[in-house]
Amino acid sequence: MDQIVLDRNENQYGPAQACYEVLRNANLEQLSLYSRDFAKGRKSELSEKIAGEIGIPEERVLLSYGSEDMLKQVVHCYLHEGERLLLPQQSWWYYKKIAKEVHGAHVEYPLYERGSRFEFDVDEIIRLYHIHKPHLILIASPNNPTGSTMRRDDLARLIDYCANSFIVLDQAYFGFEDSTNDQLKNLLDTHSRLVVLRTFSKYYALAGLRIGYTCVGTELTHLIEFSARYLGYNQLTEKIALAALSDKAYYERITGYMRDDKAMFMREFNQLEGFKAFESDANFMLVRFPVDHKKHLQDGLRERGVIVKFLDDPGVTDCIRITIGTREQNARVVEAFKDVASRLPALIEVVR
Ligand SMILES: Cc1ncc(COP(=O)(O)O)c(C=O)c1O
Repeated sequence: MDQIVLDRNENQYGPAQACYEVLRNANLEQLSLYSRDFAKGRKSELSEKIAGEIGIPEERVLLSYGSEDMLKQVVHCYLHEGERLLLPQQSWWYYKKIAKEVHGAHVEYPLYERGSRFEFDVDEIIRLYHIHKPHLILIASPNNPTGSTMRRDDLARLIDYCANSFIVLDQAYFGFEDSTNDQLKNLLDTHSRLVVLRTFSKYYALAGLRIGYTCVGTELTHLIEFSARYLGYNQLTEKIALAALSDKAYYERITGYMRDDKAMFMREFNQLEGFKAFESDANFMLVRFPVDHKKHLQDGLRERGVIVKFLDDPGVTDCIRITIGTREQNARVVEAFKDVASRLPALIEVVR
């Protein structure tokens, strides 16, 4: 049986056809040459294009090997030994690892379960900010693994309040619900210490290409210098990313399918005894399961070829994160869960 691997938030639809065309038509002679874009006063055509779309100078758009790479550079530049990073309690494990690399400390703010969502509580974050005076604040929106987006007014309020700290807004999952850039330019123009991380890995289905971009406020000159690659970037990768940007219709279409399937997951999981699905603004969904049956569930899903992520982070130890796959994959996921759930010992008791 084919396995469906839905544990890493990869976009299962794959990139737009235009991306494959770039590879088919690649100018192989170019491989031995540097781009010389630096002499033209820019990083690349890609950074110029992104800067134009967002409405900020190209100098403040940074390219990196996935957004993971830039996250590391930001933390290494701006968090020093003993300084604090304020980050979401339920979040990507990697944030803490990088803070540790620089001997920084971290303080966590919780996201709260409210109805069918996990939500940010900005008043609570501000309270913790006053107590701990973090040097760096991390906001992941949409957040992994909860799928929560910080509301626009809350985001503006938080960034205003915490203007003395560096703020990293991780938008790796940008595009799956909200894809408007209008707030970004304004935030970046008015908050000189803001860093916004984005990637081609998720929405654009190019995780294997390893390319991300970051938009920064005016005070981030150290990072701009530090991240500069004077001999240029990866020309092939950039061309593929540009091709992805050119096919908006394709990405809107597959995102629509994923949105429909998120609604389908909400309906199906909420009907299963002991399960609860949480609304998500990303390409994954958090689902609470009857934790006493973790082993049964893990084994049963594996036997049916369905690989999902069982979480062990505080606050979500009874949850699974399921990447939203293609329509066919999602139908198989639901069938597998229904089948395994119907055979869980205690649940059979309850049904009787
Ligand atoms: C919240 C979050 N940020 C950043 C990344 C890094 O993505 P990439 O390095 O592929 O851009 C991930 C990857 O899963 C993620 O979950």
